[in-house]
Amino acid sequence: MKKTAQIITAVQQKGGAGKSTMISCLAAAMSDDGAKVLIIDTDPQESCVEWAEQNEVSNLDVVPHHKEDSVFDLIDKLESRYDVILVDTAGYDSRMATYAIQASDLILIPSGGSKKDIMGAARTWLHANNLTKRNREAPEVKIVLWKVKPGTNVLSNAKESLEKSGLPVLSAIVPNLTGFDEISWTGGLPDGKARQSVKQFLASLQLGKHLQFYERKAA
Ligand SMILES: Nc1ncnc2c1ncn2[C@@H]1O[C@H](COP(=O)(O)OP(=O)(O)OP(=O)(O)O)[C@@H](O)[C@H]1O
Ligand SMILES: [Mg+2]
Repeated sequence: MKKTAQIITAVQQKGGAGKSTMISCLAAAMSDDGAKVLIIDTDPQESCVEWAEQNEVSNLDVVPHHKEDSVFDLIDKLESRYDVILVDTAGYDSRMATYAIQASDLILIPSGGSKKDIMGAARTWLHANNLTKRNREAPEVKIVLWKVKPGTNVLSNAKESLEKSGLPVLSAIVPNLTGFDEISWTGGLPDGKARQSVKQFLASLQLGKHLQFYERKAA
């Protein structure tokens, strides 16, 4: 099979849900496993660029990119050099996010447990589906319950509402833990429980056969 990178994009219309943290953690965890990883940071805030500046992660490159019309060209140019290209987007419905969705093989929508987050996730899911349903190969789209508090009514209500609406939610949740806040200062992966939850999140994506790098490794 010709090696071209899998394109994974984080989108969520509701800001602050954890897109940049999720992309950074996924990038560091996959590069730990030997994947060659590129992050394209399309958010003017450049959170992933800043995170990467704190600490060198081997096998990982990060490029800021803010020109909507050339994001496909950038991917075309770079995809043969990487196993995975992770794209971070801004927390609003932008033209850049539309391009990134169109270019993706897998779309991850992080969502907290609040009604605003869940409504943002549902709208983002609908938007991503509408944009890609006539693609020859429509991308997978998954909602990830991120920055949630296990065992709370908020979490069970959020899960129930997603399931009732038939929205695809990943089985692993990523809890609200201070370790995640620390990585904007330290770079790399978080420590302790937060690191464990990143590994579980990665394992859940692998189990669902969502990550081509591991599928190729196993073949
Ligand atoms: N699992 C978590 N537990 C605790 N804090 C978290 C978690 N994930 C992210 N955070 C914190 O929440 C804040 C928002 O996260 P992040 O910047 O990743 O969201 P975002 O969706 O990229 O936001 P924006 O829409 O502004 O781009 C940050 O301060 C981050 O450190
Ligand atoms: Mg962000």
